[in-house]
Amino acid sequence: MDSEKKINDFDFDRAELIRRAVNQLGSAYAPYSNFHVAAAVLMESGNIYTGVNVENASFPAGICAERNAISHAVACGEQRIKAITIVGGKHGCRTHFCAPCGICRQVMREFSHPSEMKILLAVSEDDFRETTLEELLPDSFGPEDLIRD
Ligand code: THU
Repeated sequence: MDSEKKINDFDFDRAELIRRAVNQLGSAYAPYSNFHVAAAVLMESGNIYTGVNVENASFPAGICAERNAISHAVACGEQRIKAITIVGGKHGCRTHFCAPCGICRQVMREFSHPSEMKILLAVSEDDFRETTLEELLPDSFGPEDLIRD
């Protein structure tokens, strides 16, 4: 049982996922906050999709990197998230861990099992904090709540 859990815990390439997000960071469009964010989401299929934050002169029209990455995956027919990594910082400098906002956590919830979905807050391939959606969004509301009698 313990060994099974271990295999599940290490069954994806963290460095590759982080690399994909870091490589995307230059595309962030954040002329108003100057806070650049990129996300790479790994789906159960093994495919990775990326996204960046895209701001707007009409501020509320802006969207976060995580939701762009997830929307990208869903548009390609994928609906089960395995893990996501987020990188970012002021002017694109990766000096601190960038946590997902509340709205993004709720969107992650739509397409994952909270206890199984891994969230990697990363500065680099060698410097990241790994957590789960369950830890960042406890007692969450999800699709099952709407179909329960
Ligand atoms: N941002 C993200 O892209 N993801 C988050 O989870 C936190 C915030 C973006 C939104 C906005 O463009 C900028 O960072 C400052 O809030």
